[in-house]
Amino acid sequence: MTKRIAIIGAGPSGLAQLRAFQSAADKGIDIPEMVCFEKQDDWGGLWNYSWRTGLDAHGEPVHGSMYRYLWSNGPKECLEFADYSFEEHFDRPIASYPPRAVIFDYIKGRVEKAGVRKYIRFGCPVRQVTFNDVTQRFTVSVHDQARDEVTSEIFDHVVVASGHFSTPNVPEFAGFSEFNGRILHAHDFRDALEFKGKDLLLIGSSYSAEDIGSQCYKYGARSITTSYRTAPMGFAWPDNWEEKPLLLKVENDTAYFKDGSSKYIDAIILCTGYLHHFPFLDDSLCLKTDNRMWPLGLYKGVVWEENPRLFYLGMQDQWYTFNMFDAQAWWVRDVILDGIALPSVDEMQADSLAWRAREEALDDDESMILFQGDYVKSLIGETDYPSFDIDGVNRTFLEWEHHKHENIMTFRDYSYRSLMTGTLAPKHHTPWLEAMDDSLETYLAQPQHTPVNNAAAKTEEATLVDV
Ligand SMILES: Cc1cc2nc3c(=O)[nH]c(=O)nc-3n(C[C@H](O)[C@H](O)[C@H](O)COP(=O)(O)OP(=O)(O)OC[C@H]3O[C@@H](n4cnc5c(N)ncnc54)[C@H](O)[C@@H]3O)c2cc1C
Ligand SMILES: NC(=O)c1ccc[n+]([C@@H]2O[C@H](COP(=O)([O-])OP(=O)(O)OC[C@H]3O[C@@H](n4cnc5c(N)ncnc54)[C@H](OP(=O)(O)O)[C@@H]3O)[C@@H](O)[C@H]2O)c1
Repeated sequence: MTKRIAIIGAGPSGLAQLRAFQSAADKGIDIPEMVCFEKQDDWGGLWNYSWRTGLDAHGEPVHGSMYRYLWSNGPKECLEFADYSFEEHFDRPIASYPPRAVIFDYIKGRVEKAGVRKYIRFGCPVRQVTFNDVTQRFTVSVHDQARDEVTSEIFDHVVVASGHFSTPNVPEFAGFSEFNGRILHAHDFRDALEFKGKDLLLIGSSYSAEDIGSQCYKYGARSITTSYRTAPMGFAWPDNWEEKPLLLKVENDTAYFKDGSSKYIDAIILCTGYLHHFPFLDDSLCLKTDNRMWPLGLYKGVVWEENPRLFYLGMQDQWYTFNMFDAQAWWVRDVILDGIALPSVDEMQADSLAWRAREEALDDDESMILFQGDYVKSLIGETDYPSFDIDGVNRTFLEWEHHKHENIMTFRDYSYRSLMTGTLAPKHHTPWLEAMDDSLETYLAQPQHTPVNNAAAKTEEATLVDV
């Protein structure tokens, strides 16, 4: 009998799973019956921007954490799909740091070409997943919002691809209840213009603090203060931006920090990360982890060791994104198609613990990038996902890091060479700091110039666009 697979979520990870099976079908392989449940009305996950915050039209927590004017925070060359290049999608090379709408368009392009939309049921949040030890099958209960009906179906496998940057981690600091200004989490941040002319405090020292602070600087905040718990970000910030140790308390409109300093502030944005949150999963199936490179309990980062019929995609902290989700999805597909045999539970756990021990020894960004690159290599080596130059992606990440430390406000003006096509990205028509309109039309509007020495350019030359 044909197996039935439930995929939860149609973001980049869930779409990777659909594309992986469709690519096997293209090669004449019989694939299982697939149903992908997506709670939003469209695909793309976080890249499907929503102005909404809080609850959506159905009373469902809004998934979106992205905001207006968000641009890719790493070179697109590091996330490019190996089976569908940016050049194929846009019919020409484009610059290295596209805004959200351009990445969204690219994500959609591949799955439209693959024709997998028919497998997705939109407006269908999964409410519950349980496993029956006797039948060895899952029961998946889903709320069809259009019909306002909850129904249950039986599946042989479940792939959880519901993301983990959506449920905010919201700490409280003394004095918050009496603070005179607005307090919000990065999950609810939508438009930097709201903070034009304001003195802004951001708690946290990771990507959200860095990028939301940069957005607000770009769109005219009067001052930015970022407050770190463990370590400062350490970039060369503009004059009206300072980093302070952890916030101790706020009193009316003044923030007091651990080093004894204080500062007037208008608003506070908690850039304090997200929780892995799976309210629809039975406890025995539920991954419990903080945001890290090697969550425990997942063999090869994807197989739920306690019940290897259940899989998770994209649950790691992410340097690699789209092509890592692909590597995971192709590998999971081959387990489901019986092309890859799983070892015993003891062996799976021992393998995971070895990766975890390696993860715990990582002490800087470079070692984390190389670690995740090795992980992606280990998966791709076992499947027919098109192999690509992962060492080249690692090198591009390291150049990106270097450019950020050189100047945090200009790193997005650099160009890199595609590891999939070999083409050097053209320089964008407008420096990022001056590019206020982030629409796809404006981004693609003007002709972009590919250097004449494109084919011969070395990687080092490739990055030397004039910023
Ligand atoms: C603010 C922000 C900016 C980012 N910027 C970048 C970037 O520049 N470059 C980059 O590579 N990565 C970036 N990321 C990382 C991002 O995690 C990945 O790019 C990618 O979106 C992860 O894909 P995913 O499919 O695993 O999860 P998601 O994109 O979160 O998609 C999960 C999907 O599951 C659905 N879902 C959730 N619960 C249910 C349910 N119960 N039932 C049915 N459906 C459900 C959601 O609606 C959603 O569509 C960013 C993340 C954030 C938060
Ligand atoms: N495209 C873009 O420009 C863009 C923008 C934003 C986010 N993103 C993506 O979004 C993802 C999530 O990034 P993120 O920055 O939101 O989360 P994150 O990387 O998990 O970082 C969370 C931050 O919150 C801090 N923190 C947590 N609890 C705290 C507490 N109680 N008090 C003080 N500080 C606390 C952490 O400090 P410690 O270091 O002390 O733990 C850390 O600095 C990443 O994948 C990132 O790439 C991308």
